[in-house]
Amino acid sequence: MRRTVLITGASGGIGKELADRFAKGGHNIVLVARSKSKIVELAQEYQKKHGIQATVIAKDVAAPGVPEEIFTELKEKGITVDYLVNNAGFGLFGTFMETDMEQEVNMIDVNIKALTVMTKLFLPDMIKRGQGGVMNVASLVGFFPGPMMSVYYATKAYVLSFTEALANEVSGTGVTVTALCPGLTSTGFVDRSGMGASKMLKGAIMEAGQVAEEGYRGFLRGKTLIMPGVRNRFIAFMPRLLPRMMMTRLVRRLQDRTEH
Ligand SMILES: NC(=O)c1ccc[n+]([C@@H]2O[C@H](COP(=O)([O-])OP(=O)(O)OC[C@H]3O[C@@H](n4cnc5c(N)ncnc54)[C@H](OP(=O)(O)O)[C@@H]3O)[C@@H](O)[C@H]2O)c1
Repeated sequence: MRRTVLITGASGGIGKELADRFAKGGHNIVLVARSKSKIVELAQEYQKKHGIQATVIAKDVAAPGVPEEIFTELKEKGITVDYLVNNAGFGLFGTFMETDMEQEVNMIDVNIKALTVMTKLFLPDMIKRGQGGVMNVASLVGFFPGPMMSVYYATKAYVLSFTEALANEVSGTGVTVTALCPGLTSTGFVDRSGMGASKMLKGAIMEAGQVAEEGYRGFLRGKTLIMPGVRNRFIAFMPRLLPRMMMTRLVRRLQDRTEH
C-alpha cells in the first residue's frame, strides 16, 4: 500500500525537491504552501508522471487554527498521513535592533509554532498505528548562536533540540523523528531573508536537490540527524572544539555585511 507524506513549504526550494523525491518513490503527497498555482501545477505533474495521489492545501501554516484545519480536512477526506515533513520556514537578516518586529514574530510562528502544532496533531495517530515518521527541517545554524540573524538561528536551535528530544521519546514505537540540518542552500531563502549583503554568500552553497536527496534517504532509514555535506558536518562539530564566545564571534565575522 502507498504511504502518504504531507510536506509544508512544498512550493519551492528544499520542500519542492523533497516532494519530487517522495513522488518518484511512489508516495502519495499532500502539498502545503501559500502559493496555490505552484502546488496545483506540481500535483498535476506528480499525478501524471508517477500515478500517485496528490492533494493540495493552499494555506499559511502560521495563521491561527490552520494546522487544526489541515488535520481535520485530511481526516474528512479519509487521507492517512504516514509521514509529516515540517519544512516551511524563513529567515531574516540584520541586527535585532534593525529587523522588523512583525516579521520576526511571524518567523517564530512559522518556524516554531506551526511545526510544533503540526507534530502535536499528526504524531499520536502514527504512534497508535505503530509506524510513520516526522522530519523537521532544522539547519546547520541550529548548532550555534547567530549574530545578524539572531532570531532565525534561535528558531533552528529550538527545532533541533525539540526534534532530538522527541526522537528519544518515540524510540521503540515504530515511529521515527528526524532533524534535517542543511547548510547554506541555493533556494528562495536568501532573497526572502534579505541575506544578499551577507559575507556568508561568498562561501560554499549546496544545491537544494542534493540536500533533499540526503534528507529523503536518511529519513526513510530512520536517521535522527541528517547533515548534508562533509563541510557542514565539520562546521557543526566546531562548537565542541571552540569556546562558546569564540564561536559566536566567528559566526558574526562570517555572517556580517560585506564592506562596500
Ligand atoms: N536555504 C537555506 O540556506 C537553508 C538552510 C538551512 C535550512 N533551511 C530551511 O529549509 C526550509 C525550506 O527553506 P528553503 O531554503 O527551501 O526556502 P524557500 O525556497 O524560500 O522555500 C520556503 C518554502 O516555505 C513555504 N512557506 C513559507 N512560509 C510559509 C507559511 N507561512 N505557510 C506555508 N508555507 C510557507 C514557501 O511557500 P509559499 O511562499 O508558497 O508559502 C516555500 O515553499 C526552511 O525551514 C529553512 O529555514 C534553509
